[in-house]
Amino acid sequence: MNILIVGAGGFIGSHLSEEIGANHGDWAVTAVDITSSKIEHLLAQKKINFLRMDILKDLEPLEEQVKNCDVVFPLAAIASPLAYVKDPLQVFELDFEANLRIVRWAVKYDKRVVFPSTSEVYGMCPDEEFNEETSNLVTGPVGKQRWIYSCCKQMLDRVIYAHGVQNGLRYTLFRPFNWIGPRLDDIYRAENGSSRVVSQFMSNILHGKDINLVNGGNQSRCFTYISDAVDALIKIIENKGGCADRQIINIGNPYNELTIKELAVKIVELAKGYDKLQSNANGVKIVEMDSTDYYGKSYQDVQRRVPCVKKAESILNWKPVVGIDQLLTRTMDFYFG
Ligand code: UGA
Repeated sequence: MNILIVGAGGFIGSHLSEEIGANHGDWAVTAVDITSSKIEHLLAQKKINFLRMDILKDLEPLEEQVKNCDVVFPLAAIASPLAYVKDPLQVFELDFEANLRIVRWAVKYDKRVVFPSTSEVYGMCPDEEFNEETSNLVTGPVGKQRWIYSCCKQMLDRVIYAHGVQNGLRYTLFRPFNWIGPRLDDIYRAENGSSRVVSQFMSNILHGKDINLVNGGNQSRCFTYISDAVDALIKIIENKGGCADRQIINIGNPYNELTIKELAVKIVELAKGYDKLQSNANGVKIVEMDSTDYYGKSYQDVQRRVPCVKKAESILNWKPVVGIDQLLTRTMDFYFG
């Protein structure tokens, strides 16, 4: 099987390529990205064929790769909330327009698509657990630009779904819930908002800066370790008996729910165990900050985001196994061990 991973140099793409390279001898990866910095360690492998491309510009060569593959993962996207509010048009052009082209080529050449939807599509849904079939997708007013990412992904979900109904497209939509692990973000960038929350807090400690709890930090997330997540993706690729065909699947860890304040306290405590962080961790202040000061006025937040994972458990026979302490320790070991 030739698996085309567009965005193989990103966080998810790098881990998926690594796992396929290590443990799936009969699969080959065509790894497309504009950068290879997160997958340099894989490029010597024969079965990982890296092609440097800018998917906004190199349209013909990219179409050729879709034509040649068996299954395509269109993973290239901007996925940082600060970017949604600071440069929403860039998010639209990459996350929506560039990925729509790939989806259309998959339809044209009759290829299977495994598309990263997002937990963000549920937005401010009030359900206790977000369910793929029954939960409403709730976003805010247009002026709250944070939702452009959610809307781009939702629209692609709907387009892919419609191609399934009208044109027989074979697809799986998976919804990551705060996947965390090595290579998530560049923690050496010091600016607030340059990373997602786990790497942001590590970065703040590293740079001797305060940790900011946006709007008090009582909002929560369920953190999922990347190896659990990749296990689910492998099962989707295997697709035993067509179990993942035309399915929408949450991939998250409902057992790892923490408020952002609890997360900050945990990361500071763990940081005291690493030489590179110890002295800063002993002096770090955890302060509250208004979201307007942190992200600007077009930000709006999700208070609680818990996945229902019954579908992943039943159709993929999958369960997340990495607990929150192990998840944080493994991630911090990668950066500071
Ligand atoms: C993320 C991003 O949109 C994507 O990475 C992804 O699609 C999705 O959710 C997911 O991974 O499921 P979010 O969880 O809001 O969105 O992103 P973070 O930047 O990790 O923020 C989490 C929470 O921490 C937010 O409430 C944010 O306001 C808060 N935060 C962030 C702080 O309190 N302090 C900070 O310094 C940074």
